[in-house]
Amino acid sequence: MNTNVQTSGIKSGLEGIPAAETALSHVVGAAGELILCGAHLKDFAAAHSFESAAALFWGTAQDEAPMAEEQVRAGLGAARAAAFARLGALLPSFEGLSLSEALRLGLAAVPEEDAPHIAVTGAIPVILAAAARAKEGKAPLAPDASLPHAADFLRMLRGEPASEAEVTALTTYLVTVMDHGMNASTFTARVIASTGAGLTWAALGGFAALTGPLHGGAPEPVLNMLEEVGTPARAESWVAGELEKGERLMGFGHRIYKVRDPRADVLKAALERLSPSGEKLALARAVEEAALAALKRHKPDRPLETNVEFYTAMLLDGLALPRAGFTPVFAMGRVVGWTAHAMEQQRTGRLIRPASLYVGRKPVREEWR
Ligand code: ACO
Repeated sequence: MNTNVQTSGIKSGLEGIPAAETALSHVVGAAGELILCGAHLKDFAAAHSFESAAALFWGTAQDEAPMAEEQVRAGLGAARAAAFARLGALLPSFEGLSLSEALRLGLAAVPEEDAPHIAVTGAIPVILAAAARAKEGKAPLAPDASLPHAADFLRMLRGEPASEAEVTALTTYLVTVMDHGMNASTFTARVIASTGAGLTWAALGGFAALTGPLHGGAPEPVLNMLEEVGTPARAESWVAGELEKGERLMGFGHRIYKVRDPRADVLKAALERLSPSGEKLALARAVEEAALAALKRHKPDRPLETNVEFYTAMLLDGLALPRAGFTPVFAMGRVVGWTAHAMEQQRTGRLIRPASLYVGRKPVREEWR
């Protein structure tokens, strides 16, 4: 069903309709630009740690000077410790759940306390690492409040410290995906916050919206696709076959970008610095090239370029993260955007309550019977 424009003429995807004023991020789709708190993505990602980027988002949202990086690091360390203390009651319920389902459950248990944005951001890596370890029959590891957020996550997950290159790659990823205009999960978080509900509720709703394959659920299928293709020589025929069957190629196309998604380039550079196996990189390049050429032929009037999820999949795989954890790791970065938008909405916005056009049957008036 083509639901782009409904019979009434409304755009059911709300494309092009501004729903909020924000100082947090700006996507210039035609130019392939992403501005985060006043800086171009490339400069922002190069300049910030996870903690300093989060401080800037949360400060901007509240129209206040950002907290010091050390203060955010200490706050997140304490939040990770609090999340770990809650784990005991949760862990048995993780059994049989996917990592996304376990995170949904864990987020629902975060209390709406002082600084809920820090509490919920600190909770995600703890829940995710514990749920992933439980799948391998391993006990959860306590967080180390002295470590940066990304480093502590990798250590809690693996049971040993990650290399500096790996921590840098994950930090680049988390900062790159922290915010992205009025995407579906951010809109969800703003709608929830607009009702006066707290920031943990907004983050939980944001995560729910993120899990769909048209939004943050794509990296796992991207990796499956690369595995199915297998070798660079098969890329062209595999891609053509999928399009013939009417399938979408995961990791390509975007509602806003009409040129290449700038996040794909930042992540590609981070991936190259991480030096994955030459074989994997060659396969990814071959699939990307074949897909772009085939999509151009398939939809000559609709620019379909590489999106953030393509190189996300490669980068997170290069970090040996479990594939089913890719969407929750996305949430680990994006939660900063959700909570910042929720704070900004509550400071500057009002209840979001759009209208709908009724196209159902009308009641028959009594006198016409
Ligand atoms: N492969 C093949 N065809 C595609 C693709 C794709 N990746 N993307 C769009 N198209 C086609 C559609 O089938 C549609 O064709 P039609 O008009 O004949 O029905 C046309 O291009 C326009 O597509 P829309 O769905 O209208 O585009 P929209 O802006 O709604 O979609 C989206 C954007 C959802 C990202 C889409 O490009 C897609 O499904 N991509 C694959 C999934 C993916 O990579 N998701 C991650 C997105 S990034 C993020 O959210 C973090």
